[in-house]
Order: sequence, then structure tokens, then C-alpha cells
Amino acid sequence: MKEIARKNIKEIVPYEPGKPIKEVERELGIKGIVKMASNENPLGPSPKALKAIRECLKDLNRYPDGGSFYLKERLAKEFGLEKKNFILGNGSNEIIELAIRTFMNEGDEVITAEPSFLIYKISVRIEGGKPVLVPLKDFAYDLPRMREAVTERTKLVFIANPNNPTGTSVGKDELEKFLNGLPEGIIVILDEAYNEFVECKDFPNSLDYLNRGNVIILRTFSKAHGLPGLRIGFGIASTELIDLMNRTRQPFNVNSLAQAAALASLDDKAHVERIKKLVREGKEYLYKEFDSLGLFYQKSDTNFILVDIKGDGRKVFEKMLREGVIIRDMNAYGLKNFIRVTIGTRKENKKFISALKKVLIK
Ligand SMILES: Cc1ncc(COP(=O)(O)O)c(C=O)c1O
Repeated sequence: MKEIARKNIKEIVPYEPGKPIKEVERELGIKGIVKMASNENPLGPSPKALKAIRECLKDLNRYPDGGSFYLKERLAKEFGLEKKNFILGNGSNEIIELAIRTFMNEGDEVITAEPSFLIYKISVRIEGGKPVLVPLKDFAYDLPRMREAVTERTKLVFIANPNNPTGTSVGKDELEKFLNGLPEGIIVILDEAYNEFVECKDFPNSLDYLNRGNVIILRTFSKAHGLPGLRIGFGIASTELIDLMNRTRQPFNVNSLAQAAALASLDDKAHVERIKKLVREGKEYLYKEFDSLGLFYQKSDTNFILVDIKGDGRKVFEKMLREGVIIRDMNAYGLKNFIRVTIGTRKENKKFISALKKVLIK
């Protein structure tokens, strides 16, 4: 039969997102499900963001501001940079794609770690690049090995800092060592989707590297700001890199509700502090519970924890569904004995632990 898809497409393993609550309710016929599978914010968006969305509804007959003027102006103030240092995306996922499309030629190599955020390798393959996957060391990015993996064909490097699914961070010294002396023309993408939750003391201030080599920082409103449903994230980089990426961007890639909500959310620092506190306390509670269950877990700089459940993660995931808790098994990441759980509210964390106890002794 004649091949109808572009080359590479058939080899791509589709990304499997966390199961939506409604889907589990429909399939299992149970109510009161809690979702702790997609590293979301259980407190929801800021009330200020919700108000801004309501005010925006009447203008939905108009296209959004394709240049995101007010949001970029606000971000520039927030970071002490210029508007020209920012690019907005339909989630930070879109900026991953834009960076690949802008800078990578077919056949170029893109270095990242394995396991890390799956979208990097999927997006690279879609565009005909070659992902070079360097195994994690002790669940963390192994930057010296990644440095050794650099060749003449290397075009991009993705560093999820902190990493998904392990929750580990790369420290300042390690990162600087890696960046120093990297051949010219290689773009390093520092994906800081979980930045707000970092507790590691020597976490790098990535803004310091904006004018050193080619660094693009990614941030998102999907995690601490609780707006994943609207899809909005942003990239920070030199004006030169931003200008190039803007050429591959659709003119109205970020919708007006998302722009308004993000802008308002930046003004609600107290809301972000509330979620940070909830996550900090939730992690302490879960660490203790895992300790008492004798389970290995990776200490996390994010709002999720990777746990070794010493058995088939997929089975535990399925049994947990029947207990009304959606978590993530780690098969897609090659960690068959692990699950990943997002920190929920206190009530959700407790429900998760009691379900896990039940499931593990069954
Ligand atoms: C490391 C990492 N980067 C980026 C994203 C994507 O976030 P967004 O919702 O902004 O597309 C995620 C989402 O889970 C993530 O884990």
C-alpha cells in the first residue's frame, strides 16, 4: 500500500496523557475520582484570573492580540527584561516545537536525557531530527555525559530543570560547566516548567545565561498558576533567538482568555504562594508515608514524586483507578516498577495513600 504519512511519523509512539477524570468516571461508573496524574494545581486558577477571563468573554468575536502586548509588557517588568525577550506559546509545549522548527535541520542531532519529558523526542522525530538520549545518572541529568555526546551534528540540547518524571534538578556549577565551552551555534533549552516548586539551594538563575551562548528558558502557566486548560507558556531568550522563533509561530497562537488570565495571575502572588505551601507540605506528608511503607522515592523539586512500588506500575495504576485515584504508571518512560503521583490537596493525598496501601497488599 502507498505510504501516506510523512517519513518518521509511523515510528512515533503517541504521547499518552494522564487519564481525564470524566473518562474514568464513564469507564468505571464511579464518582468522586481524584486526579493526581498530570502535575496540575489542585487549588485551581487564581480568582483574579477567573475574573479576567469573564471580562474577556464578550470580546471572543475578535482575534486575540497576536503580539500579546500587555502580557509581554508585564513579563518584561517581572523579569527586568524587554518585551522582545519573550515569546508566548500555546503551552510551553508549543515553544518546544517552535524551537525545533526554527533551529533544527533534518538529520540534526538533539541531545536530551532518558527518561525525561517525552515531548522533546517526539517533537524532534516529527521534524526529522535525531534524538540523542543520554541515560540519567542516579535519576538526574548526567551533564558530563551529555557534553561528551555533542558532535558536529548537534543542534539543540533540552534540559528539563527540574526533570519530569524524576523531579531532580541540575545545580548551578554543573550547568555552568556544561554551558562553558559548548560549541557555538548549539541552542540549549532550559525547560523550567516546575521552577516555582524548586527547593534545591544551588538551583541556577537561568536568566544569568541569556547572553551567554544560545539559551532559551521555558516557563509555563500550567503548573503553579493552575491554567493548563487554557494552554499558555512562554520562552525567554535573546532578542535574536526570539525574532527567529517568531517567524515560525502562527499569528494567533495564544488565545485571548489565556493572555488575560496569565496577566491577572501574575498579579496574584499570594495564590502561587498557597500552592507552593500545599506542595511543600504534601511532599513532606507523602515522603513520611512512603518511608513507613518502605518504598523508595526520589526527593522532588517539583509538584510530583516518582515512587518505586517494587512491582508492575501499570497494574498498580489500574487498581488505583478502581479505588478512585488517577496516577501515572511509568511504562512510557521505561520505568516499569514506578509510579508518578502529583501532590494533591491534603484530602487527596490521604485518599491516595489509603488507596495505595490497599492496592499494595492486595
Ligand atoms: C518538563 C515539562 N515541560 C513542559 C511541560 C508542558 O507544559 P505546558 O502545559 O506549558 O505545555 C510539561 C508538562 O507536563 C513538563 O513536564
